[in-house]
Amino acid sequence: MKSNSLTIKKKIGSFNNKIYVDGDKSISIRWALISSQATGISTAHNLLRSEDVLNTLKCLKKLGIKIVLKNNSCKIFGQGVNGFNFKKNIVLNAGNSGTLGRLILPLLIKSPYKIKLIGDKSLSKRDFSRVIEPLKQIGVNFFPNKNKKLPLFIKGNEYLRPIKYFENRGSAQCKSSVMLASLFTPGCIKIIAKKSRNHTEIMFQNLKIPIKIKNKSNYDFITVEKPNKIKNISINIPGDISSSAFFIVLTLLSKNSKLKIKNVNINPSRIGVIKILNKMGAKILLLNKKKNNNEECADIFVKSQKNLKKINCPISLNSSAIDEFLIIFLVAAKAKGTSVFKNLSELNQKESPRLKIASKILRMIGVKIKADNSSIKIFGNPNLKVNKKIEIKNYLKDHRVFMMSVISALSLGGEWKIYDRDSVNTSFPSFMKIIKQLGGKIN
Ligand code: S3P
Repeated sequence: MKSNSLTIKKKIGSFNNKIYVDGDKSISIRWALISSQATGISTAHNLLRSEDVLNTLKCLKKLGIKIVLKNNSCKIFGQGVNGFNFKKNIVLNAGNSGTLGRLILPLLIKSPYKIKLIGDKSLSKRDFSRVIEPLKQIGVNFFPNKNKKLPLFIKGNEYLRPIKYFENRGSAQCKSSVMLASLFTPGCIKIIAKKSRNHTEIMFQNLKIPIKIKNKSNYDFITVEKPNKIKNISINIPGDISSSAFFIVLTLLSKNSKLKIKNVNINPSRIGVIKILNKMGAKILLLNKKKNNNEECADIFVKSQKNLKKINCPISLNSSAIDEFLIIFLVAAKAKGTSVFKNLSELNQKESPRLKIASKILRMIGVKIKADNSSIKIFGNPNLKVNKKIEIKNYLKDHRVFMMSVISALSLGGEWKIYDRDSVNTSFPSFMKIIKQLGGKIN
């Protein structure tokens, strides 16, 4: 049997490459879910083929939607708004994906039968009350009534009512869940949402779903009305900035290296990582900018940087870098001076309690830190090297903890044994292939 751990005993040498990363996960899941409510055939090119997205397709198939995956394209045969074939005893498995779990619930709010939603060990520890509460106000039923976690049952209601919803976490999942509920709810749903990724808004606008958005400095005011019909969606999915971040940091921390990452989504609500790293002295460039389905895309160019400096990270950038903090902390560990990151309690609500796990890993590799439930101070050391054995396990198979560990091993040295290599399949199946392409030696 193939072992599910790997060992890394050597830093990566210098490289000068051009790579493509896998398609964007947030856009892939949204495209599949919204296409299931469209009339006619929607087509996506470069859909991310990761477990989170494949689980999305499996759930839609169970709800009676025909899907054809072929070479690099995926076709979804939408049956119109509320066109699912609801049956008794349907069980949907969201696997590891918070986005799938939280965004599929609003598509079920007309189901005449109870539907069971389950997830893996990590997802079953995560908070679902944040999407259950607004959906209950719209009129949806959940069982057991006070449950905040999976597994849960949802049963719809013929009589749904529009709500005013205040989203104050900067969570795109919560905002999108209520936006998707508006596809089935008569009248007009009003949302005031702290800034977060806006892929759902862009897709609604592209589809001419009646949506109005007023952008204020920290919040967006959104109103959505129930559409009569949704037209089919053809989309070309760009590379994922969250996946790119691991290779951006590997390049920054390696000697004499250069990397171009082709055709990545650089939606302004996602590029906190670039802004933060550039403030720390990286010189990351966005080249060949273009728009694709109203999403901004570019090639990312990055080269090694010896003189990285501390940051007092502006909390206004937190939401736009929320999935990248693990790898940003690694840069802070190699930077000159003490970096501070605040208001990050949401990090402990992810696939694993990431602020806690990052603190543990940083301490293991000899970095001085001070952390509490929502903030971390990292005392950087530009000469940081690892000369000992490090073992990374028991992290709830969090894909981003795995990738952060691999990048740490390849850029800091030491002898690393990292468990649960399969975890990358949830978001970035090509991760190991690209590491090898750049010359990383892994056993
Ligand atoms: C996502 C939103 C973020 C992010 C997650 C994907 C999305 O979660 O961490 O990986 O696609 O909407 P929150 O909305 O919980 O912040």
